[in-house]
Amino acid sequence: MRVYVLNGPNLGRLGTRQVDVYGATSYADLVTSCESTGRELGLDVVVRQTDAEHELIGWLHAAADEQAAVVLNPAAWSHYSIAVRDACALLRAPLVEVHISNIHAREEFRHHSVVSAVATGVICGLGVDGYRLALHHLATRLSQGV
Ligand code: DQA
Repeated sequence: MRVYVLNGPNLGRLGTRQVDVYGATSYADLVTSCESTGRELGLDVVVRQTDAEHELIGWLHAAADEQAAVVLNPAAWSHYSIAVRDACALLRAPLVEVHISNIHAREEFRHHSVVSAVATGVICGLGVDGYRLALHHLATRLSQGV
């Protein structure tokens, strides 16, 4: 079962970007960890990151066409991109929104995500472990056929 783990802008800089907020795990380590969690769970996990909004929208369209589940960290787009939200609304399988940091405990402009209302669920503030938890949830859910 294919699951896309999609990451928005600046997440390619994990490991060196605001380590006090996002932790020391590099983006390469995050990819390895998602792929190995996928193998453990019998999921075909494809991990991607982009700084270009149209690219993320194209990946979401493809996931919708394939009826694939998605783990999405929309990063800064969470807070203002109606285009990303509309693409998420096209998905036909579960969508788990992940934020590494607790967006509710940060600047006010981060408190609202325009994506959350069209997500199946949201994990935030649990560090990069949120991705692993999201994949576990999807594996359970997909095995139940929901
Ligand atoms: C983030 C939180 C966003 O506010 C921020 O713009 C990011 C990362 C997180 O994972 O905590 O780039 O989505």
